[in-house]
Amino acid sequence: MKIAIIGGGPAGLYAAILLKKQRPKAEITVYERNRADDTFGFGVVFSDATLDNFEKYDPPSYRHITQEFAYWDDIAVHFRGTVHRVGGNGFCGCSRRKLLLILQERARELGVILLFEAGVDDEARFTDADLVVLADGINSRFREKYMAHFQPEVDVRSNMFAWMGSTRPLDAFTFIFQETEWGPFIAHAYQYEVGRSTWIFETDPKTFKRAGLEGLSEKQSADRMAEIFGWFLEGHQLLTNRSMWRNFPMIRSKRWVKDNMVLLGDAKATAHFSIGSGTKLAMEDAIALADAMHHAPTVHAALQQYEEGRREEVEKAQHAADVSLVWFEHVDRFWSFDPVQFAFGVMTRAKAITYDNLTLRAPDFVREVDRAFAKQVRARGFDVDVEKPVAPMFQPLRLREMELANRAVVSPMCMYSAKEGVPGDFHFVHYGSRAIGGAGLIFTEMTCISRDARITPGCAGLWNEEQEAVWRRIVDFVHANSAAKICLQLGHAGRKGATKLMWDGMDRPLEEGGWDVLSASPIPYFPDSQVPREMDRVEMDAVKAAFVAAAERGKRCGFDMLELHCAHGYLLASFISPLTNRRTDSYGGSLANRLRFPLEVFEALRAAWPAHKPMSVRISATDWTEGGITGNDAVAIARAFAEAGVDLVDVSTGQTVRDAQPVYGRMFQTPFSDQVRNEARVATMCVGNITTADQVNTILAAGRADLVALGRPHLVDPSFTLKAAAWYGADVVLCPPQYLPGKEQIFRNSVRDRQDFDDLKIKAKPKTRAELKAEATKPLAAE
Ligand SMILES: Cc1cc2nc3c(=O)[nH]c(=O)nc-3n(C[C@H](O)[C@H](O)[C@H](O)COP(=O)(O)OP(=O)(O)OC[C@H]3O[C@@H](n4cnc5c(N)ncnc54)[C@H](O)[C@@H]3O)c2cc1C
Ligand SMILES: Cc1cc2nc3c(=O)[nH]c(=O)nc-3n(C[C@H](O)[C@H](O)[C@H](O)COP(=O)(O)O)c2cc1C
Repeated sequence: MKIAIIGGGPAGLYAAILLKKQRPKAEITVYERNRADDTFGFGVVFSDATLDNFEKYDPPSYRHITQEFAYWDDIAVHFRGTVHRVGGNGFCGCSRRKLLLILQERARELGVILLFEAGVDDEARFTDADLVVLADGINSRFREKYMAHFQPEVDVRSNMFAWMGSTRPLDAFTFIFQETEWGPFIAHAYQYEVGRSTWIFETDPKTFKRAGLEGLSEKQSADRMAEIFGWFLEGHQLLTNRSMWRNFPMIRSKRWVKDNMVLLGDAKATAHFSIGSGTKLAMEDAIALADAMHHAPTVHAALQQYEEGRREEVEKAQHAADVSLVWFEHVDRFWSFDPVQFAFGVMTRAKAITYDNLTLRAPDFVREVDRAFAKQVRARGFDVDVEKPVAPMFQPLRLREMELANRAVVSPMCMYSAKEGVPGDFHFVHYGSRAIGGAGLIFTEMTCISRDARITPGCAGLWNEEQEAVWRRIVDFVHANSAAKICLQLGHAGRKGATKLMWDGMDRPLEEGGWDVLSASPIPYFPDSQVPREMDRVEMDAVKAAFVAAAERGKRCGFDMLELHCAHGYLLASFISPLTNRRTDSYGGSLANRLRFPLEVFEALRAAWPAHKPMSVRISATDWTEGGITGNDAVAIARAFAEAGVDLVDVSTGQTVRDAQPVYGRMFQTPFSDQVRNEARVATMCVGNITTADQVNTILAAGRADLVALGRPHLVDPSFTLKAAAWYGADVVLCPPQYLPGKEQIFRNSVRDRQDFDDLKIKAKPKTRAELKAEATKPLAAE
């Protein structure tokens, strides 16, 4: 077999090693355009988990690599004169040059042919090769040449960065967030060998310009960085090596394989440097390719297997990198945060590290986070314990005069079980049990303002006496038997009206018994949905009046809070999104125009709703599709509602148009809540695939939302909050006397269960290499 590998970076060399081990007789040649010891860049970083993989696949190079490594356990965050250190991270650094020399030596030893200063312009010369590996890096000539086939997508990020080195020793992965007269600068730094550290500097484009970095030489820009970070460098130099300022390109390719050619490493996909995974991904691609070549019967089948088997892992890493880089791009959002909350945000930015996880590794740090959170709550007039605070989820919150006992919320969820809009026994039990279960706030399902405002024939409403009486009974029960507050969500289905019950076909039009539907513009939801009537002013006034009448009924029922539903493609949302609003009057066109009618309704409700009671608005912060609402629009929308008196923005997303492409995942809507809260400076509630109390605490402690709503988790577990309180030992959740023995038992058992669980986790976690090294070098205690 003949294998040609274009590119002698980590991906190309490691693939050569693993393939040669598998097929000692194969002729494997690596073509590298640079000289063997040409260096660019400084260190690379690997996690312990990556090194475990290297150990498994090629012990000799693993041993060699790890002899050369610098190890560390801590991440240190420097911000506004403070430093927070968090241990247990398990990283290793190594010089890129040394890594390449080790891999070259190992490849040579196995019989791989290494050709340097051998740039390849045209792969046609490899017609006799069975496999051609394209490992030619981020600017891959071959990915570009076959662009129509590989379909790369290049997302050039806004921040500028430069990769430098220094002689400054470091004992932790170090983030420095530095205020300057021009704006914020960030340094990501780590030591990779004795006397050498990598320094990646990052800043936003405006700060870059203001700091006069444009057009400076490498030396001049290194001098400027040395001035900014001089206090930390302590006289150590900054070193440069092709250290030009650049924008990071996030690259994704739709296809990785063409005939017998395969893209590997940065050539196929990149991961932002802030998660330090580029070299890891490149070498793990090589592992995946070698595995596939080992198992599949033909090269063609192996390449298919490689692409199919590897794609998910790469996309996951890219998603984590995206989340992380966005955090750094928007660091100014958090600049006013308490430093410990800021540091918590840095640690938890990419979702892998959470509140519970940090509690195990760095309990003092998390206690400090809890105390800072409790202090903020105390500053708002609550008499909470600051020295031994409960976890953020169990801290109270005030909106106008409504006080919530904790931050967990039952999200609005339609039960599709009302008859002519009248809630029944199911609703009484549903809301009652969730209130008893301990959540601080319960939302009603979307409650429709008129018969024709319903989504389905099973939707609840509040347009007549009978409905009002049933809702009053529910509200009274909640108030009499729990500490929960209850919020009425009012809505109008718009073009999604007259559709089937969820379990008969979500958003599908009713075949019989339907009613006429309204929207901002006459655009049906599905091609075969009813074409809605474009609302005229008379209808707008009627709808507004119906909203106010329903709110008046809600007031008489005793609801604590009122939410206006402007999300998910329903009537008011159809005005806001440009995808569903094609009007040419003063209610269409600009965002200000599109917001006009929803704001009119909100203002009318605000005037009718008691001044001491809060109001929220639910928005879709993105339409998840080209041309639709974006996170930036959501900030403008939130600002407009805040000016009109909204107390909380309930940040949901999507469901505007059928062909949207949401990016699902854990806590997938939380970044939008973060953006709205910390740019528009308004309280937010986040929601969406948040399933654990750990995630709730992570979101709150990082300042990404003020309240956290859970929908589906509450469908199967009304006592989600009470159980979480027991887990965290937060005895602050009211339980009705009838249920006290159950509460006492779970609180008692949770102490032991939690201890057992933590012990198991600690036992299951292998020692990091840094810990092992520290143990091995520890002097023996005197006898
Ligand atoms: C600022 C910055 C910091 C980073 N920090 C880290 C980090 O800390 N940890 C980490 O793991 N990763 C880091 N990376 C990422 C890392 O450098 C890359 O992801 C990794 O090197 C990818 O390996 P590769 O083999 O795919 O590509 P490369 O390392 O780019 O190798 C490609 C090789 O192909 C050669 N080549 C290109 N075209 C041709 C041709 N036509 N013919 C012959 N040869 C050719 C090139 O000379 C090069 O040697 C960082 C990247 C940047 C930009
Ligand atoms: C069965 C069901 C009904 C829903 N009904 C409503 C509703 O009436 N009003 C609303 O704003 N959102 C509604 N939603 C959306 C939820 O409030 C929530 O935003 C969504 O389920 C995501 O949160 P989760 O991942 O915690 O379930 C509903 C969701 C479900 C699962």
